[in-house]
Amino acid sequence: EGNPTPYEVIGEGQLHRLIDSFYSKVGKHPELQPIFPNDLTETARKQKQFMTQYLGGPSLYTNEHGHPMLRARHIPFEVTPSRAEAWLACMREAMDEIELEGEFREFFYHRLNLTAQHMINTPEKDG
Ligand code: HEM
Repeated sequence: EGNPTPYEVIGEGQLHRLIDSFYSKVGKHPELQPIFPNDLTETARKQKQFMTQYLGGPSLYTNEHGHPMLRARHIPFEVTPSRAEAWLACMREAMDEIELEGEFREFFYHRLNLTAQHMINTPEKDG
């Protein structure tokens, strides 16, 4: 067997705790809450599937929903630079909460930051 995948390094339990913690923060964030559903159960379920495969685990998201086409799936929502920053801030807080640290945290956060920048589809509103 070769090197473990990032998914194997974090493990299912810790990944799910991270995502649950993340959405509890998204649901309370003044800039994010308005564009997300009130009930984040299904959103969190899909994100667990997506992040499993994003980290090299089984293709749970694609098996159920087809190709992620992540940027296209975000077009219905106004993703501004400040919303991307808010998304990443919620993720940092969730990482702090579950005590995800060290090299793995740096690696994962770096990838999420690149993906978040790629999701931006709307310029900042004036004022
Ligand atoms: C879905 C916002 C970044 C992965 C969504 C939804 C919103 C949203 C409003 C719809 C939720 C729902 O209807 O259930 C944002 C904002 C971002 C961002 C404001 C800031 C940059 C990301 C990033 C990733 C991601 C970085 C992955 C690393 C997903 C996935 C879904 C989703 C997998 C579910 C798609 C589906 O419906 O199948 N996002 N997102 N998002 N987002 Fe994001």
